[in-house]
Amino acid sequence: MSGRPVLVCRDVGARARTAAGFSARPAVPSPFRARPIRGISAEVGVTMEHEHRHHHKFNPANAARLLSGERAQMLPPADVLDLLDARPGQVVADVGCGPGFFALPLAERVGAQGGRVLACDTAPAMLDILRRRVAEAGGSAIEALQSEESGLPLADASCDRVLLACLLHELAFPEAFLAEVSRVLRPGGRGLALDWQARETPVGPPLASRVAPDTAAAWLAAAGLVAAPAVDVGPYAYGIVFHRSGEMRAQ
Ligand SMILES: C[S@@+](CC[C@H](N)C(=O)[O-])C[C@H]1O[C@@H](n2cnc3c(N)ncnc32)[C@H](O)[C@@H]1O
Repeated sequence: MSGRPVLVCRDVGARARTAAGFSARPAVPSPFRARPIRGISAEVGVTMEHEHRHHHKFNPANAARLLSGERAQMLPPADVLDLLDARPGQVVADVGCGPGFFALPLAERVGAQGGRVLACDTAPAMLDILRRRVAEAGGSAIEALQSEESGLPLADASCDRVLLACLLHELAFPEAFLAEVSRVLRPGGRGLALDWQARETPVGPPLASRVAPDTAAAWLAAAGLVAAPAVDVGPYAYGIVFHRSGEMRAQ
């Protein structure tokens, strides 16, 4: 470990903005070898470097873009919840929940039979937006919980399902974080990591921060999680279903 993440200022302000809240980035040879670029973006977010990998934190000021109709077409929540196999009555952690693009439909699906969504995020501003949206929707099946970078506010083996949507590329310490996911997933439970393809796309986070499916699978394995082959989700994302090792299959 090389200690604290290093703040890297990037010239993302010069890039075209998109309705999804990100800017397209130029290609770099490897997400692990990209060099810092001078400049700063207050609008898009902050890109950090740790051990030669960049991780990009989404700026909560752009939270509305995570809730756009365009995004709903690109990443239909119902398709993602099907892949997660979310069912009524389950306890589901939505980690890195943001303003609740997935958490609210998830609560509709699992809440009917007493299920709950434990919506965790490190950004208090995101949790505030989520709480407001939940109050407006009149829902009660969602708890908004403050999370730490590598620590989840959840009990051991307490979750039937864990959703990590557009989160892997933001992690500072993926192995420590995923060990936490392994801790909170119950035996026989299922997780889903959904993230951006590691190639240039018209929208999405900086290419240097993206996590290829093979890398995601290796991170999951290092945390004692077994990954199924990645599948395409919409035009620009992939999904990897995972479960704890030693279990034949997720239920
Ligand atoms: C790109 S947004 C995605 C939000 C939501 N999952 C969605 O798909 O609409 C990523 C979110 O993850 C949160 N986040 C970043 N690192 C985190 C961590 N280590 N633990 C929990 N949340 C984190 C950010 O604050 C942000 O709200």
